[in-house]
Amino acid sequence: MSPAPVRIGLIGCGRIGQVHALSIVATPGAELAGVVDAVPTAAEATAARFGSTVYGTPEELITSDQVDAVIIASPTPTHVDLIDACIDADKPVLCEKPIDLDIERVESLRPKATAASIPIVLGFNRRFDPHFAELHRRVQAGEIGTLEQLSIVSRDPAPAPIEYLASSGGIFRDMTIHDFDMARNFVPDIVSVSACGVAQFSDEIKSIDDYDSVIVTMTSSSGQQVVVTNSRHAAYGYDQRAEAFGSEGLLEVSNVTDTLVRRWGADQVEAREPYQNSFLERYAVAYQLELVAFLHAVRGEPSTSPTFHDGWAALVLADAAARSAKERRVIDVDLSV
Ligand SMILES: NC(=O)c1ccc[n+]([C@@H]2O[C@H](COP(=O)([O-])OP(=O)(O)OC[C@H]3O[C@@H](n4cnc5c(N)ncnc54)[C@H](O)[C@@H]3O)[C@@H](O)[C@H]2O)c1
Repeated sequence: MSPAPVRIGLIGCGRIGQVHALSIVATPGAELAGVVDAVPTAAEATAARFGSTVYGTPEELITSDQVDAVIIASPTPTHVDLIDACIDADKPVLCEKPIDLDIERVESLRPKATAASIPIVLGFNRRFDPHFAELHRRVQAGEIGTLEQLSIVSRDPAPAPIEYLASSGGIFRDMTIHDFDMARNFVPDIVSVSACGVAQFSDEIKSIDDYDSVIVTMTSSSGQQVVVTNSRHAAYGYDQRAEAFGSEGLLEVSNVTDTLVRRWGADQVEAREPYQNSFLERYAVAYQLELVAFLHAVRGEPSTSPTFHDGWAALVLADAAARSAKERRVIDVDLSV
């Protein structure tokens, strides 16, 4: 007999909230038990679309005896208090990245989060992308010997609206945060960070004192190197690639297209469809597998979900990169504390 479905309450019904709602209703063993949003009509529309109950406040949803577990998909400044409330209510929680933009606020919750008996899971969906997960599995299996260099390329198709970027905490905390987590998934013991950033194509991004293009290099205690290249635009779509180089060879994950059909013509040969154009398409499967791992964690089964510690570590690396780019020097980090 299959176990009773996990009744999930969703806080925040915006862009990523819709993705989670879709994953929940599409996943056996999960039920969208409740939704809440600061804008009631957003919650009502989501409840109508997916079939769910609307709650008046996040606190009511978190403490409801009709809700077994919580997904936090509201804006970043709400995350720390909502995770705190989930710990108090003994409700397993999956919180979107980043935990907060201010490491001091994350540090203030860290002892309680570390001691908590419930799973606290971070929304680093890229770990669950089947291609990157396969890369990770094969590196771990020793297929390329000892991993020496990891290169991650992540470029958005176009910058998000400037209002979003202005409150995003900067490119390292908003965008590179995913790559910091990816880097740590392969190379956990990073000890130094060096970053450079420029605003070379967007005057709007320059006007908010942020970068549109960054390169980060990181080194582990044993000398493994990681390079992350980010841009806020790419003329050819959503550019998500990774390459692992080791003593015995190389493994590469290239971009994903909707179809494998190629065209030969007078003007072009081997022409393919453009790459998938947004994180919503590219990581649709990853979001669903992220939920499946969360369900395992909620049921007390072995789970590969990233933890509060992973969210903390990614933010430490993001802060170090921001400092490195500003001060033009290498920053040492200690992720073992
Ligand atoms: N993992 C990913 O790939 C990914 C992608 C996008 C966004 N995110 C993260 O998800 C979070 C939300 O981002 P988004 O793009 O969906 O934002 P959004 O603005 O589209 O949606 C946020 C929703 O939360 C609601 N809200 C605001 N304050 C609230 C509160 N106190 N209680 C309940 N609801 C509240 C808003 O009304 C809105 O509907 C951010 O932390 C962001 O960094 C993660």
